[in-house]
Amino acid sequence: MKYLIANWKMNSVDINVWEQEFVNLVSSQNNFPKSDEVRLIVCLNLYDYTVFSEKIKNSKNEIFNKISLFTQDVSQYDEGAFTGQISSKFLKKVGVEGSIIGHSELRENGDTENIVFEKGFRLNEQGLSNIFCIGENLEILENNKKKPFLLNQLQTFCKDNISPGLLAYEPIWAIGTGKEADSENIASAVSIILDFFENKKIDCPILYGGSVSKSNIEEIISISGIDGCLVGNSSLDGEQFAIIASKIKS
Ligand code: 13P
Repeated sequence: MKYLIANWKMNSVDINVWEQEFVNLVSSQNNFPKSDEVRLIVCLNLYDYTVFSEKIKNSKNEIFNKISLFTQDVSQYDEGAFTGQISSKFLKKVGVEGSIIGHSELRENGDTENIVFEKGFRLNEQGLSNIFCIGENLEILENNKKKPFLLNQLQTFCKDNISPGLLAYEPIWAIGTGKEADSENIASAVSIILDFFENKKIDCPILYGGSVSKSNIEEIISISGIDGCLVGNSSLDGEQFAIIASKIKS
């Protein structure tokens, strides 16, 4: 099974147009991967949830019917006076399946390793899944500190029965830059993560994120140990996202 995840971030996406573009592309291809070959997830703002989930329910396209909906963040708290935050209880109530946690754009805004762990804990409490993001910045990479940095992120998260549902390696220097990480860098991160998982007996798909597009998806997905991708900019267009999905196969 491969995984392709859209992270729409705080962009406005016209869901009617996105669905049409996606479905048109899928219908135009004879051998678009089946839903048991590629799992598709869209991480949206909760505001868009109702419209998108109705579309999924009513669509006549069976690939579109199988899209899962996640959010991009969740509160680290259970409930209470936390203005503007959304709890895992609310996500559960609405019908969302899980959330991204630890995205670098939130870490830059104050999410520490411990906060990311607490967010994972809250999701777990509600039986929801997580897409746990890790990744180094350019300074860490250039100072050869990538391995201890990634290991610390993994160690702080994987404790007390909490583990990633999906792990996304997203080097900060490759996000939104139009320049994806090179295969060597991705492969070295995969090997660090796999060793860690093996030690901890964790079985979890590993995804790559950072400037993934229809032009580089085949190269990225061919890297040993990579089970899928987390896509930002190129997921805002339904056709582009479907083209990327069409190039991923088990
Ligand atoms: P881009 O694909 O726009 O680089 O974004 C990657 C990302 O942050 C996905 O979570």
